[in-house]
Amino acid sequence: MPIRGIIHLPGDKSISHRALMLAALSDGECIIHNLSTGEDVESTRNCLQDCGIESRKEKSIVYIMGGDFKSPISPLDCGNSGTTTRLLSGLLSGQEMDVQLMGDESLSARPMGRIILPLTKMGAEISCNDSKLPLSISSKSLNGIEYTLPVASAQVKSSIMFAALGAMGKTKIVEPVKTRDHSEIMLESLGVEISVNKNEILVSPLKGKLNSFELTIPGDPSSAAFFATAAAMIPNSDLTIKNISANPTRVGFFHSLEKMGGGVIWKNLHHECGELVGDVQIYYQPLHGITISKDQVPSLIDELPIIAVLASTADGPTIVEGAEELRVKETDRIHAICKNLSAMGVEVIEKKDGFIINTPNILQSASIESFGDHRIAMAFTIAGLNAGTYNQIDDMDCVNISFPEFLETLKSIIK
Ligand code: S3P
Repeated sequence: MPIRGIIHLPGDKSISHRALMLAALSDGECIIHNLSTGEDVESTRNCLQDCGIESRKEKSIVYIMGGDFKSPISPLDCGNSGTTTRLLSGLLSGQEMDVQLMGDESLSARPMGRIILPLTKMGAEISCNDSKLPLSISSKSLNGIEYTLPVASAQVKSSIMFAALGAMGKTKIVEPVKTRDHSEIMLESLGVEISVNKNEILVSPLKGKLNSFELTIPGDPSSAAFFATAAAMIPNSDLTIKNISANPTRVGFFHSLEKMGGGVIWKNLHHECGELVGDVQIYYQPLHGITISKDQVPSLIDELPIIAVLASTADGPTIVEGAEELRVKETDRIHAICKNLSAMGVEVIEKKDGFIINTPNILQSASIESFGDHRIAMAFTIAGLNAGTYNQIDDMDCVNISFPEFLETLKSIIK
């Protein structure tokens, strides 16, 4: 059953979170088209609502009113969303707020020391449970700092940048490897004083409110990767995904697919509000294994589960190294990938910081444990397309975290 057709996808999750948070700092009503439809972004919208930032949704348009924040009366529920937790902690620290943040079981097990340390350096008072949620933040006025990130993380970088907007003096952040730069692009396009020099970012505090804005969010390239993989591994496939983010810090998956021998053609590339956007056509060609190393990891961090599936169908080994951050995502994704690939009969070796997939493999359908992780559930749904009969996934509801339309879209392109 080849994969064929032309599809449009809901807005990018990372850009959606940032658009809502920066709209909250504006002086009036912002209009956001094609916001991510996932529960994570809804968590951000609800948390902002609890802080007095009103918004309403009409079909795929969200109207959100910037204004003054109020300290919420109960803890903010960040659900499953690391981006909500980390970016909002920074943003609200810079707004002299008293807030508590909590989340579900998965989020409550994820490391928050990485934001607590720099935000505390800036002057926020934060108490927590062994560097994990729940967090209590109490902030008076913050100072700008110079900070070198110990791990490559766009969430940590953006948390500090958003805190810096409300601090006194400039903040300088240095990244070990460049990570997704949506915060930098959005702040610059909204007229904030910010400069970026290779891996160094200098942010100045806001002088007042941001001007309200209207924005269309490009389709999510991380969601696109699932369908692109299906098209790349099934003979006679040819799929076009319209209007997705082609931001160079996000397209490591597509570069890797090309390196593996897959057919990838970008078209209609153009900039929208500073973000590179385009259509991508993916078609089947025989694939071979590749090596993915530490410096490439940030540009495809969320795509590693689906890259593992792709690599299982290729000719020759694929090695992924320097990806230990996968162990602290929604679940331990290295373990989840290796366990589920093994269940499908793939020869995979688990490493501390990645995995090695040996080939050739004949994929057999299996019972898959998603560990409640949306990207594991979607990756192994796609893996099942190459296994004769579909995989049994223990929990498909978790796909709603990022992409409620996943199954419906997939059905529409199986011909
Ligand atoms: C994100 C950054 C990445 C990514 C996450 C979204 C963001 O996390 O895995 O899904 O929007 O900044 P890290 O920055 O922690 O690697």
